[in-house]
Amino acid sequence: MTFATQIIAWQRLHGRHDLPWQHTRDPYRVWLSEIMLQQTQVSTVIEYYTRFLHHFPDVAQLAQASAQDVMAQWAGLGYYARARHLHACAKQVMERWAGRFPSDALSLTTLPGIGPSTAAAIAAFCYGERAPILDGNVKRVFSRYFAIEGDPTQRAIEVQMWALAHKNLPTQKFCSEHPDAMARYTQAQMDLGATLCARRRPKCEQCPIQKNCLARRTGRIDELPWPRARKVLPERAIGLIIAYQNNHVLLEQRPDSGIWGGLWSLPEFEVTVDPAHAGQKIGVDCQQPQSLTPFLHVFTHFRLSIQPWLLQVTTPEHRPHGLDTPPEPISTQRWVDCSTLGALGLPAPVRKLLEGLVTERLLSSQTL
Ligand code: ADE
Repeated sequence: MTFATQIIAWQRLHGRHDLPWQHTRDPYRVWLSEIMLQQTQVSTVIEYYTRFLHHFPDVAQLAQASAQDVMAQWAGLGYYARARHLHACAKQVMERWAGRFPSDALSLTTLPGIGPSTAAAIAAFCYGERAPILDGNVKRVFSRYFAIEGDPTQRAIEVQMWALAHKNLPTQKFCSEHPDAMARYTQAQMDLGATLCARRRPKCEQCPIQKNCLARRTGRIDELPWPRARKVLPERAIGLIIAYQNNHVLLEQRPDSGIWGGLWSLPEFEVTVDPAHAGQKIGVDCQQPQSLTPFLHVFTHFRLSIQPWLLQVTTPEHRPHGLDTPPEPISTQRWVDCSTLGALGLPAPVRKLLEGLVTERLLSSQTL
């Protein structure tokens, strides 16, 4: 038996069969799941996927939605460029492809946010195309099975792996005899990487391809794959202002590009600015700012150290909605009722911070 036929047989018996995006060939559903799964674990994606589909049941409704609405459904999944590309992709499917996803991997790669591996996964799951995937899981399996030395995120190693991915596809003949071969093979690679061939403590005894696995045969399971060459991430520090009054908090919409693009967040200021001037900066009178415990948020390319400052607003005319709400200070800012935060797209650390303060009833003080 070949690599492909062995893992296909294993998937039938031991793979995952109950994920919410399985048992469908609807490219909209498959595409949505693959985009969400690009940088996020299955256990996190399940809830988001179900909610997102409920909100946007098909590509037409997603294309018509506002960027705000899409962001609100995506908020918390991170890597927000994915959500912007997702929305742009839905619009292109409507405009360029008359509302139907293209049915081959190569055409799929012309759409925003769809790289060669994601395109291949969609084409294999929905149309049975003989197109190979190469994601983090597959790279780990290949590094071990073929004992590939070198950092799999490096271009030269990746090129070598793409060649192996093509070479090890189920044969044409096998695919014509088994119409589900490509969907099964694609899922098998994902399942093997996720459930057995884990980075740490892989379950080699249960693995269907252990006999021919070069890393196992040569006692190098713990050495392969090579770890990614670690860069020391640069660190940035910012202050965030939690200006509040009467259970309302001042939020600001972030520009589309940059971190947390398009999400609602707290006004940000340089750590070099004296927090005593924070109120002035956002145009309110307030009591002495109170510093909260700083915390760290790690992005792919840098670490962000966040110092939150709590500002109890005292300007009477800044009383929020229903109480002489003032004109918003600038067009991107808004006073938001804390009980409605759930409906807005907020970055995960900001949501956590605000929800903690709401739970402790720290944002509810009235102006005297
Ligand atoms: N990771 C990427 N795509 C996946 C899928 N379809 N099922 C499980 N994990 C995945």
